This record gives sequence, C-alpha cells and structure tokens, in this order.
Amino acid sequence: MSGQVSNNGSIAVIGAGYVGLVNAACLADIGHSVACFDTDAQKVSRLSSGIVDILEPGLPELVAKNLDSGRLSFHSVADKALNSAETVFLCVDTPTDPVTGPNLRNLMGAVDSVLDHGENVSTLVLRSTVPPGTTAKVSAEIAVKNGHRSMDIVVHPEFFQEGQAVDDCQSPCRIVVGSDNEAAALRVAGVWQNTDVPFLTTDTATAEMIKQASNAFLAAKISFINDIARICDATGADIDLVAKGMGLDPRIGHRYLQAGIGFGGSCLPKDLRALISSAKLLGWTPPTLAAALKVNDDQIAVIAEKLEKRLGGLQGKKVAMLGLTFKPDTADFRDSPAMALGQYLSRAGGKVRATDPALDQLPQEARDEFDLVADPAECVVGADAVVLATAWPIYQKLNWSEIASSMSGDLVVDGRNVLDVAEIKSAGLRYVGVGRGSVSD
Ligand SMILES: NC(=O)c1ccc[n+]([C@@H]2O[C@H](COP(=O)([O-])OP(=O)(O)OC[C@H]3O[C@@H](n4cnc5c(N)ncnc54)[C@H](O)[C@@H]3O)[C@@H](O)[C@H]2O)c1
Repeated sequence: MSGQVSNNGSIAVIGAGYVGLVNAACLADIGHSVACFDTDAQKVSRLSSGIVDILEPGLPELVAKNLDSGRLSFHSVADKALNSAETVFLCVDTPTDPVTGPNLRNLMGAVDSVLDHGENVSTLVLRSTVPPGTTAKVSAEIAVKNGHRSMDIVVHPEFFQEGQAVDDCQSPCRIVVGSDNEAAALRVAGVWQNTDVPFLTTDTATAEMIKQASNAFLAAKISFINDIARICDATGADIDLVAKGMGLDPRIGHRYLQAGIGFGGSCLPKDLRALISSAKLLGWTPPTLAAALKVNDDQIAVIAEKLEKRLGGLQGKKVAMLGLTFKPDTADFRDSPAMALGQYLSRAGGKVRATDPALDQLPQEARDEFDLVADPAECVVGADAVVLATAWPIYQKLNWSEIASSMSGDLVVDGRNVLDVAEIKSAGLRYVGVGRGSVSD
C-alpha cells in the first residue's frame, strides 16, 4: 500500500489500543510519518521494541516493518508525539457505564493533550466511537480552553472487525467522514489513498450516528436470530436452516444471523447501551434497541437453563468451558458472553474449568473466576458437561470419542452451533445446540 502520500503533514495517533495501533501501523505503511501516543508507558515501551500484545493477523509484521522504516514511533510523553503533528487521530477508548452512560473522560483527556502540546495541529480526527453530539462537546471544550485556535474536527468512524482489523483498515467497505468543513473531510478521507472505496461525507452528528446505528443494527440482528432460536428450540425447527433460508434473501443477508450465546466484545454491547442512554436523555427509550439488549442479557440464562435442566441442577456440577474470548481469532475478553456464561454457571454452584487459546492474555482480575487450563483435553477430564462458548477452529476439530472417554457425564452444549452433531452423537454423547430443536437431545 505504499506510494504517493497526500499532503496531510505528519500524523499523530492518540491511543495505542486496537484501533490506534492498527490505524497507526496502516497509516505509516501508506507512507505517512506517524507518532503514536499512549499514556500506558509499559505498552509504549513494548511496542517500541516491536512487541504487539494484540492478536491480529499481520499486525506484528506491519508494526515491525514500519518501526524499521522510521515512519512509525511510539511515545508515552504527549509533547514528543504531538509537537510536529498537523493531523491527530483520536483513538482512545470511550466506555459506556451501564448506569451512568457514555464516559468521555479519556477522549477529553486526549483533546487536552492536543491543546497543550499540538501547536501545529489543524485537523482533529475522531476515530473513536462516540455518541451523537460528542463533536459539539469537543468543539465547545476547544473554544473554552483555547478560543484562538482554529481546528477542523472530522468524525471518521472505524468499522473494522477484530480478527481482520488490518485488512479491514487497509481495504474498508466504506469511508465515512463528517465535518462542518467539507474540504477537511475530504482531506481526511484522502489520507487512505483508497480511491476505489465508497465514501460518504456528512455533518458530524450524522457520522457519529452512522457508526452507532451500524453497531446497534448488527446487535439487533444477532438478538433477533436468538429470539427466533428460542422458538425453534420449543418447536423442533432448525435455526441454522431458518437462518440460511432467510439469508438467501439479499434484503436480509447471511451475516450476523448465527444463533448462539449472544454478542459481546468491546463494541456492540457498549455502543448499543450508549445509544439507548443518549435517547433516554432525549426523553424516551427506543424499544427495538432496548429489546436487542434485553434478549442478549437474557441469553446467558437461556443457555445455562439448557445445562441445568439436563444435569438436574448446577450445584456441584463440573462444567468444562471451551473458549473465553468474545469471538475466535482475537485475544479480546472484553464483555465476552463466554466469560459471562462461565460466571453465571459458577455463581449458580457449578464447578467451572475453562480453556482458551489466548489464555495467557486473560486479564489478571479474571483469573480467579474459574479453574483455568491451557489444554482442552485436560479441561474436559471428569466433566459432567462440556460447553463450547467461543467458536475457535481448534474446538471444531476435537476428537469427541476421546473426550467422551475422559468425561464423567455425557452432555455437550454447543453455544455457537458449530460442532459436528453426528460425530458427537456417535461418540455416545448428548448434543444440545441453540435453536437446533430437531437435533438436540
Ligand atoms: N476494538 C474494536 O474492534 C473497535 C472497532 C471500531 C471502533 N472502536 C472504537 O475505537 C475506540 C478505541 O477502542 P479500542 O478497542 O482501540 O480501545 P483500547 O482500550 O484497546 O485502546 C485505547 C487506548 O487508549 C489509551 N488512552 C486512553 N486515554 C488516553 C489519553 N487521554 N491519552 C493517551 N492514550 C490514552 C489507553 O491506554 C489504551 O491503550 C473506542 O471508541 C471503540 O469503541 C473499537
């Protein structure tokens, strides 16, 4: 992706997490000079040595290549990253508190760093996901703290999916840029030099809303299929064929129609809650969004009930959980439904032993929740039930005859509907899926 670089001067990226690191590495790879600032000095020091803790295909190589070329650097001191930057990408986390709503403290902290150290900054790019109306707050903050500064603000949401973040960032399905100044919006779209990607210029509130509404829609699609799956469980219909039949309609499409233990991760639950909370501030609760959240919250109990019913209660039952990350091919445990299910089962008296390919990156505070083992074969020893909670490919290739001989019980709950039903049954085990009434025991 290297080549002619459009005239945006040097770029600073604030936040070296998933979004900041991927954006910084991809921007440097195009040929921009990129300085990335993060307040986490330990993370900065590891990144400066080329150590990438995020599990993303191609990212360590991209970081190493661009560190070597000198186009990419990491800093824990704001001044060093910002003093020569003309364009700043804000990529800090924007959490949503379930009770108090969106928390913009880190974002405002990053804006303060720009005002304090970014003398040459003329364009501020909001790459973080923010609730509608945030740009207006950022503008007001800039006016109060530094009235004489003229700075264009461009809302430029990131749409990548973890697990394919580098590819998505380099070849996005669309570029959205929202600003009061169309020239600034076009300038920011131009940094990617992706002339063949559809792009949309909007005002700032619309760009903010496009991102949150997109995530809310994806979340609602998953909750919709899980709602239908409950009816399938009761009627004997097969949710996978239902979803396949629905998805063949191009108006519906196949993606995000996979029934299972629900959505999670750092984006969908947070952004759905943020949007509901923004609407509540305006005086109403959007029913579709609230229902999508409720179905998802309830889904953990729906899956737990499948175990409870078949095991005759959960108290003292040994449950082996395969997978803890919120989805496969990532080391991200944030808001993971697999973690939530494990916690639910252990609080109900179950003895949960869990495994995950990314176990070494499980945050310290979550380590005491369950008995953890690296090897799936060890995880299932003596188990009354095995629960597939994250659809890692290695769990789809397990030898179920071997598992059957090391379990105490015979129950397999497939929380992602990805296991081979025939193989599990021929190993003498009972299979239970989500909305797979026709094949579940
Ligand atoms: N992770 C995703 O898949 C994804 C996808 C699209 C959009 N987003 C959005 O992008 C934003 C960032 O998400 P993320 O997953 O990269 O978060 P993250 O938690 O992985 O990274 C955020 C980083 O910002 C740093 N930081 C926080 N405040 C700072 C400050 N004031 N100055 C400097 N550094 C600071 C933190 O130390 C951390 O390293 C969020 O708004 C998120 O909703 C995330």
